[in-house]
Amino acid sequence: MRTLLTAGLWFLLSFFHLLPAQHTLVLDTKSQGQAIPTTMWGLFFEDINLAADGGIYAELVKNRSFEFATPLMGWKEWKANGAEGQLLVHNRGTASSNNPRYLRITNAGKGAYGISNEGFRGMGIQKDLPYHFSCQGMALSGDATLHLELRDPDGKSLGGTILNFGTAWKKYNITFTATGTHPKAQLVLWTEKAGAIQVDFVSLFPSNTWKNRPGGLRTDLVQLLADMQPGFLRFPGGCIVEGRTLETRYQWKKTIGIPEERTVLINRWNDEFKHRPTPDYFQSFGLGFYEYFLLAEDIGAAPLPILNCGMACQFNSSEVVALEDLDPFIQDALDLIEFANGPADSRWGKLRADMGHPAPFHLKHLGVGNEQWGPQYMERYLPFVKVLKEKHPEIQIVGSVGPFSDGPEFDYLNTSMRANTADLLDEHYYKEPAWFLNNATRYDGYDRKGPKIFAGEYAAQSIWVVSPENKNTWKCALSEAAFMTGLERNADVVHMASYAPLFAHVDGWQWTPNLIWFDNLRSVGTVNYQVQKLFSTHRGTHTAALHSNGKPVTGAQGIYASAVRDEAKKLWIVKLVNSNTTPVTIRLENTAQQKWPGTIHTLTLQHMDLEAENTLDNPAQLVPMPGNIMSNEKWISIKMEAQSIQVLKLPMSR
Ligand code: AHR
Repeated sequence: MRTLLTAGLWFLLSFFHLLPAQHTLVLDTKSQGQAIPTTMWGLFFEDINLAADGGIYAELVKNRSFEFATPLMGWKEWKANGAEGQLLVHNRGTASSNNPRYLRITNAGKGAYGISNEGFRGMGIQKDLPYHFSCQGMALSGDATLHLELRDPDGKSLGGTILNFGTAWKKYNITFTATGTHPKAQLVLWTEKAGAIQVDFVSLFPSNTWKNRPGGLRTDLVQLLADMQPGFLRFPGGCIVEGRTLETRYQWKKTIGIPEERTVLINRWNDEFKHRPTPDYFQSFGLGFYEYFLLAEDIGAAPLPILNCGMACQFNSSEVVALEDLDPFIQDALDLIEFANGPADSRWGKLRADMGHPAPFHLKHLGVGNEQWGPQYMERYLPFVKVLKEKHPEIQIVGSVGPFSDGPEFDYLNTSMRANTADLLDEHYYKEPAWFLNNATRYDGYDRKGPKIFAGEYAAQSIWVVSPENKNTWKCALSEAAFMTGLERNADVVHMASYAPLFAHVDGWQWTPNLIWFDNLRSVGTVNYQVQKLFSTHRGTHTAALHSNGKPVTGAQGIYASAVRDEAKKLWIVKLVNSNTTPVTIRLENTAQQKWPGTIHTLTLQHMDLEAENTLDNPAQLVPMPGNIMSNEKWISIKMEAQSIQVLKLPMSR
């Protein structure tokens, strides 16, 4: 008898253990909530990990104008058996100070002789796609016919054509169609017979750029951004803004005008990390400020440029400009506002119009400094703000509170910036997943009347910040989702948020994790991307209160939740995160005690393996799965799998 009772008890206990825990949440369907800014969820673009050259900028030729520190970096002598010749880099000096070098190729007349370009870890070439080749060129003597061909690493032709040079410098354009596909092709240029030719600005673009713009952007990568419906695009970084020294800082004026006259600059990430040296990382500025503004416009994002404030990276040189020499930096900011918003007959507005965009870009935000800290920042930030506020009160200024989420640097700037009424404070946190789970309440206590928050750079780090072993795991993405419910709940204070960094080339990265990975032909939105997209495409127009036992749902028993109202779509949108390793059941009630309308559409992201990732070979391992919940009651019963995120779309008109 006793044995039977014990067995029965064990059965009951294990039965209840298996039953998912139940949580009751109450959605406040009566109150108005706060307006959610359209900028709430956005993008942080930084030229790191070959994000620009070798990435979204679709140019396939590396070091196209021979201006890298080593002039023939990326190029190699190429010759048929027994051929001879010479490659000589010439310098025009002041006659062309932005792009002084060009290459002379002399063929000694013993067979095909020329050069090959390796591209950015190869060139991604697609069969049947037209490619636009262009170069500046001339024939000095003898054979004036330039052969150009794409080849795979085994030397097999993937298509090509020929060009006949005249005897004076001229720009040549020609289009040919690729006959094969390869992710790591190279471009070969040669002459067949004796003679000398000269070339400069050798360029090759696929024809299928975004909106088919000549010299444009990679369509698959822009599409991934557009699909997120981002509220803003911050550019061009990050530390790239600061430079390691002031001389190598990002200067927007050097990135506009015709691409041939944009001066190439070394990329500060080239050997920042000893474990990931990238000596061939340069900025051609083919993706310059005009193109960034255009990209923002194309994807419906508000532009958010960040400018250097007279300080180089404080993790590197910490160089600062003398205060009496700050004016040109401030003038750059004023001129940028004119470039973006000024009339087409103003000095800088005319340049924008001449580049093809007479209408303004509607710039409303401007960042002054990236990850600066200390009094030296305040000393430089304040003169900027004084002038900008006087001349452009319509522009919202984004200021830094340093690279850390807390500690003395953060505290100093948080206090100083608030005392000096910054519009938006740019907070950064690269932390372990547990930090994100524990910080869903971070903004609950922030001053509602103080500056707004720009959560400008964040990403959960699976190992530790800047570890090359960090992965874009589901564990990280789940913790970010939990944290983001806190951002959403505090959308009256947090006006902008962006995961960082955005892009990385699988063969050319310096920093991990990143939102989107790509190779020369493919791209993948990580699981973190899927989370960002879920929030961004379900932003809503107003916050809505959601409670459990009268309190916000911020991680008690592993459950996180937030809700919004979408006036335009007439929806309540509820986001639920179950961070537990076991399923839970949520009972969702509403304060109006009204019945739900039957079918409720859901999207669910879930995986049992916290280490799961989306990869180029398996890009859809973790994508939101659509589903339905039926309810004709005043409450909804929601089954949440272990380690899952669920978005519920509840019709308002009932
Ligand atoms: O996103 C990578 C780097 O992290 C950014 O450049 C910098 O702002 C931060 O330290």
